[in-house]
Amino acid sequence: MTHSLDNIKLMWREEPRNFQTPCYLYSVSGVEKNFLTLKNLLGTNLVYSLKANHCVDLLVRCGHLFTDGIEVASVGELNLIAGGDGVKFINNPSMDKQTMRAAIGSKATIIIDNEQQLDMLGEFIGKRPLNPVLFRLNSCVLKTFMPEHESVRSDHFGMDWETAKRCLKWANDNNIEVQGFHLFKGSNTFVKTAMSSVTAVLKIIYEFEKSLGYPIKMINLGGGFDNQPELSDFDFDAYRNLLQEIPEHIEISHEAGRAIMASAGYFLTRVRSVKQIEDQSYIIADGGMKQNFLLAKTENSFRRYEEPMILTSNDYESDNDKETGTGKAYIVGTSCNRDDVIGAINNISVMPAVGDGLLFSHCGAYNESYTLGDFLSLPKAQAYIVE
Ligand SMILES: Cc1ncc(COP(=O)(O)O)c(C=O)c1O
Repeated sequence: MTHSLDNIKLMWREEPRNFQTPCYLYSVSGVEKNFLTLKNLLGTNLVYSLKANHCVDLLVRCGHLFTDGIEVASVGELNLIAGGDGVKFINNPSMDKQTMRAAIGSKATIIIDNEQQLDMLGEFIGKRPLNPVLFRLNSCVLKTFMPEHESVRSDHFGMDWETAKRCLKWANDNNIEVQGFHLFKGSNTFVKTAMSSVTAVLKIIYEFEKSLGYPIKMINLGGGFDNQPELSDFDFDAYRNLLQEIPEHIEISHEAGRAIMASAGYFLTRVRSVKQIEDQSYIIADGGMKQNFLLAKTENSFRRYEEPMILTSNDYESDNDKETGTGKAYIVGTSCNRDDVIGAINNISVMPAVGDGLLFSHCGAYNESYTLGDFLSLPKAQAYIVE
């Protein structure tokens, strides 16, 4: 059991009323452990991708970790970190001029996605001091340089190699320094593709430097790590050895969201009522898809619901009053959406009591940040920080 889970259980036992539910519980020590574990496994810089979790209180408590940089994808995310003097990267194919202006003003490194963004950047030449940029390469470039590279799902991010060549020329013609390039092949792609990508990247570096006529300074190899990369059987030693082939003058970064945040976050909701419809048991909670969209699994064709831990509470009923149940009990939320099913308890014999807590683990990445807006004007989840 993790240190933070022990703490949460203890805090609940001492006084369940301290938790206003539904809420997220984010563990500072969990983020620390995840970040340092992955960084050590990689042996490179590790940039935090803010989209996974932008809880400001957590960011304040964990900011000291993210010295290699934080990557943002919108002006809203940029505003959360704009005031600090930490390293910032911004990347979005639909960046507008206002966002670019804000990025330049906050000294963020712009990761150029396309030719229009370069034209936009051109409008600031001579008017504002411009940081060197990175180019975002589409993952198809890996295959351009290494046809046997594993296939990854195609997407609309970054440039193909022909576009990159035009952009490199434009940068030279306009005296814009290109620091290097950025690749991101999609979530959960690391294990399958990491080794081949390095081989392709060595060739890309060569061509980049040839086109620019000067050495590049950094590359970001993206990530695509799963929730707990340290548990995979990927050979990180071999990977680190392969990375040694990248010329020494180039700083190497990776970028992660879920691997840093997922296991450091919990979602807690309380049982409001329990009921039976014919043979089916339901646990009605005070939180649902409105506060934690991902638990409803609406994006999965086969929905395997998460099973929470039950934190008992004697506030409302004694154990003797608990209703019995059989088979699987679904945990449902507060909206009128039929898909508002956020969990299940398999093989239930005694139903939880009204007031009991349902604690879902692995809710630190995207569960909050990817959740819907204002449907039914239901309340947002609270967020608490635990050690
Ligand atoms: C460019 C970029 N970097 C990093 C991430 C973070 O991905 P993950 O949370 O899977 O590590 C994403 C996710 O969409 C991304 O688009």
